[in-house]
Amino acid sequence: MELLKIDNLRKTFKKHNTRAVDDVSFSVFKGEVLGLVGESGCGKSTLAKLALRLLEADKGSIFYKGRDLLNISHGDMRKTRKDLQIIFQDPYASLDPRMKAGKVIEEVYHIHKNVSGRERKNKTIELLETVGLGETYLNRLPSELSGGERQRIGIARALATDPEFIICDEPVSSLDISVQAQILNLLIELQKRKNLTYLFISHDLGVIGSICDRVMVMQSGKLIESGSCENVFKNPQHPYTKTLLESALLP
Ligand SMILES: Nc1ncnc2c1ncn2[C@@H]1O[C@H](COP(=O)(O)OP(=O)(O)OP(=O)(O)O)[C@@H](O)[C@H]1O
Ligand SMILES: [Mg+2]
Repeated sequence: MELLKIDNLRKTFKKHNTRAVDDVSFSVFKGEVLGLVGESGCGKSTLAKLALRLLEADKGSIFYKGRDLLNISHGDMRKTRKDLQIIFQDPYASLDPRMKAGKVIEEVYHIHKNVSGRERKNKTIELLETVGLGETYLNRLPSELSGGERQRIGIARALATDPEFIICDEPVSSLDISVQAQILNLLIELQKRKNLTYLFISHDLGVIGSICDRVMVMQSGKLIESGSCENVFKNPQHPYTKTLLESALLP
C-alpha cells in the first residue's frame, strides 16, 4: 500500500536563490524503510520538512493515504500529523533547553490525545522505557543528557502519537560511532515491532545499506537514482552514485 506519494515537489529559497528541492517525485510504501542519501546541502532536510508541511512547497503535491495534504482543512491536517512524525537531525536544536524530558513527551499526549494527567505520566514512563531510558529521566533537562540520550527522547516524542510513518532525518549523524549503533538498533527494532514505515535520511551509505530496503540518491535538489539497495549498491547507474559508493566505507 502506498502511504506517501510526492509529485513534482519544488522549493526555492529566495534569500540565496537556492533551488533546494527541484521537481522531486517518489512514493513510500507501508512497512518499508526507504533511504534517502546525498551529500550535505543537497536538499534532504528540506524535502523532509516539505513532506510534513513544516515548510510550504512552491509547487507539487503531497498525498498521504490518498489525502491531499496541500489541500486539506486544519482539522484534518492535525489528525494526519499524528500519523506522520519526524526525528530531527540535531537533538540539541530540536529540544527546548528549558523543558524536562518527561514534559517533552507528556506534552504530545496533551496536544494530540487529551488523556488525563496520571495516565499521561504512566504513558510517558512507558515510552521512556521503550527507548531504553526510565522513570529517572522524567526530570532531566536536555543539558543534563548525553547526545544519545537526547536522541532517545526525540524518538520517544515521535512515538508518542503512535505514528504509522516516521521521517528519520540523520538521526545518528551527530552521535559517536558506538552510540550510533545503539540508536540504529533501537530504531530498527521499533520499526519491526510496530510495523512502522521510515523515510530514513543519511549521508552515510553504510548506514543506508544496513537498514534500508530501497534507496533514493539525491544531488543538488534532484533525485537522480533509486532502486532496491541491492541493485543500487551492486550496479549503480548514475556517475554521482558511483562516486558516492567509491568514497564510502561499506560494511
Ligand atoms: N531556511 C533556509 N533559507 C535559505 N536557504 C536554505 C534554508 N534551508 C536550507 N537552505 C539551503 O537549501 C539547501 C538544502 O539544505 P538542506 O538542509 O535541505 O540540506 P541537507 O541535504 O539536509 O544537508 P545536510 O546533509 O548537511 O543536513 C542548502 O543549500 C541550504 O543552504
Ligand atoms: Mg539535513
